[in-house]
Amino acid sequence: MYINFWYVADESKNITDQPLKKKMLGQNFVLFRDSKGKVKCLSDVCIHRGGSLAGGKVVGDCIQCPYHGWHFDGEGSCKRIPSIGKEAKIPKRAKIDAYPTEEKYGLVFCFLGDIPKKERCPILEIKEFEMEGWTITNQKLAFDIDYKRSIENGIDGAHNEFVHPTHGFSGEDDDYKSPPIDMKSTKWGTGFTNKMYAPPLKEKSMRDAAGENQNTFVEAGTGHHGISMLWTYIHPTPAVHIHQYMFETPIDETHTNLYLITARNFLTDEKNDATMIDRNQVVAFQDRDVLMGLHPIITPDETKNEFFVTMDKPIKRYRELLDKWEKKGWRINSELVNRNTLSHAYAIPSPERRKNKGWVIDSIPLI
Ligand code: FES
Ligand SMILES: [Fe+2]
Repeated sequence: MYINFWYVADESKNITDQPLKKKMLGQNFVLFRDSKGKVKCLSDVCIHRGGSLAGGKVVGDCIQCPYHGWHFDGEGSCKRIPSIGKEAKIPKRAKIDAYPTEEKYGLVFCFLGDIPKKERCPILEIKEFEMEGWTITNQKLAFDIDYKRSIENGIDGAHNEFVHPTHGFSGEDDDYKSPPIDMKSTKWGTGFTNKMYAPPLKEKSMRDAAGENQNTFVEAGTGHHGISMLWTYIHPTPAVHIHQYMFETPIDETHTNLYLITARNFLTDEKNDATMIDRNQVVAFQDRDVLMGLHPIITPDETKNEFFVTMDKPIKRYRELLDKWEKKGWRINSELVNRNTLSHAYAIPSPERRKNKGWVIDSIPLI
């Protein structure tokens, strides 16, 4: 797992003035809204005796620890230590890591890392959110998989006909060869577009829905942005477009929350939302079932123990980026963290750590 990326903590509607505990990157965080409604995200570990702040309550703009009642504001500064009295000066070192947050697309994003704003990978843009003629659905899934394997699966153009037979493919075409991909790399990602032949859909209901648009070439594109964001465009006809955006958050190395936003420019009436959501769900579970059987369960550190072919080029490039981000010192040393888990609390370093010294909780070990 890697620090210094934006990760979705939860859907906006779930963050209230009641503290909410969320696990990301194997660490616990507390989220709450302050009196102005702004979302705050802090490390969940109280610097005093390690109380879980999420078990406390929000008092004004502060979170109050449930153990001895210390108050921390949304920036992580301790504002009150009841046992030393109201007038006592709070030591400067009494602070907790607080993380930048942004609300977008009905989701709460947290920047879990310490690099300055201008160096951060931006949140993937969803243009359709502001555009006329598009309907948006949001859905959330939680799978026992490694998010990196899931991103790799997202940019894998050769699995569809085997993993998603409900698309109409089921690997029975002996002559099938993956169409060439037009790969494009950006600073933060890799994507490609291609045209694939789509045989008639197998399910009658889907066949009926597709109407005349059968036996045609489907234009598709997919790519990742940063470590855990994904875009997929499917254009069954020049006029019918489905654009999907996936934001994946590692709860830990083998558990992932997936936030899926689907924009469509057809059947735009809300009454069709449920069909779209069900359909996405079926496809997501088909991917999950395959990913849960992979060995090793998490993306390996080296590519030499796997066989790569042309269609795997985007995955190879994702691995190169992972390597680059590891070399920047962004990768968590999970083995060490796990070894110490019973006796040691860590914090993901926040931007404030670059500005000020003197922190009580150790910064998480990085590779
Ligand atoms: S552990 Fe939080 S106030 Fe004591
Ligand atoms: Fe898939």
